[in-house]
Amino acid sequence: MIYFDNAATTLPKPKAVGEAMVEALNSFGNPSRGGHEYSLRSSRVLYETRELLAKLIGAEDPLNIAFTGNSTMSLNMAILGLGLKEGDEIITTTLEHNSVLRPIYKLKKNGVKVKFIGSDRVGNIDYDELETSISKNTKVIITTHASNLTGNLVDIDIIGKVAHKNNLIFIVDASQSLGVFPVDVVKNNIDILCFTGHKGLMGPTGVGGIYVSPKVDLNSYIVGGSGSHSFSEKHPQTMPDKLEAGTPNIHGIAGLNASLKYIFNTGMDTIREKELSLAKAFYEGIKDLPKIKIYGDFNSFSLCSIDAQ
Ligand SMILES: Cc1ncc(COP(=O)(O)O)c(C=O)c1O
Repeated sequence: MIYFDNAATTLPKPKAVGEAMVEALNSFGNPSRGGHEYSLRSSRVLYETRELLAKLIGAEDPLNIAFTGNSTMSLNMAILGLGLKEGDEIITTTLEHNSVLRPIYKLKKNGVKVKFIGSDRVGNIDYDELETSISKNTKVIITTHASNLTGNLVDIDIIGKVAHKNNLIFIVDASQSLGVFPVDVVKNNIDILCFTGHKGLMGPTGVGGIYVSPKVDLNSYIVGGSGSHSFSEKHPQTMPDKLEAGTPNIHGIAGLNASLKYIFNTGMDTIREKELSLAKAFYEGIKDLPKIKIYGDFNSFSLCSIDAQ
């Protein structure tokens, strides 16, 4: 069988991912909940994985990244945690996944307004429309970095500059792109980055993350065990504890740790070049077949300022 479903989840995973997870299952205690060797071992891997992620996305501090279960959870935390009120406006695109759309539709019921930036026939969004859509009520711009349907890349560099210039919060859904295309939260003016571990990052399912810029204060709705300040009635309000109530998926994080090391050792450019050449070979092979209709723009990668990132 030839596997063509990498947008759903990547397969095969690097061999080291499964090995790291088995080792974690057999020898890791609960991270940050004890001072014994089993607990310290898992705490170290958890922190090292935060550091690897921070290096990958250019975050100022690994502690600005919280682990979650997946992108869906991260996007819900981001969109619903900003405290948007009736009359506030969100700008997003017509390329979004339901994990962006459904939290937005929830806010819409409470009177938050939504504007969609349209795309042309091949799925490239209209960047000029973005500037003209901004009003005095606009608070947030949310975009995917790469469409899960067409594969089209969105130029987050351009959008980040517009968001920054207009003092808007910029949220990016990097579910499909992280690990393959460069993302730099500082250079791209990203305030919140949401990602999942099992797609381009080649890790296991059930682990994802959220980067939150120190400029943004997200409300957290899940509170509970934090491994620190245990006598306080209030859940810690500092990152990452604020968004990490309960025992994390340390076995999944151990797998993600191994997949991130695989990406750094192989080189993201090498991974991307191989994937693009396979995709191009597939595209060239099918594009002229009868009854085949191609959606998306294979050249959207070259339209984006990848080099500038
Ligand atoms: C663009 C995009 N955003 C978000 C998600 C949600 O990812 P997850 O199911 O891991 O939460 C997906 C999954 O297909 C996706 O393609």
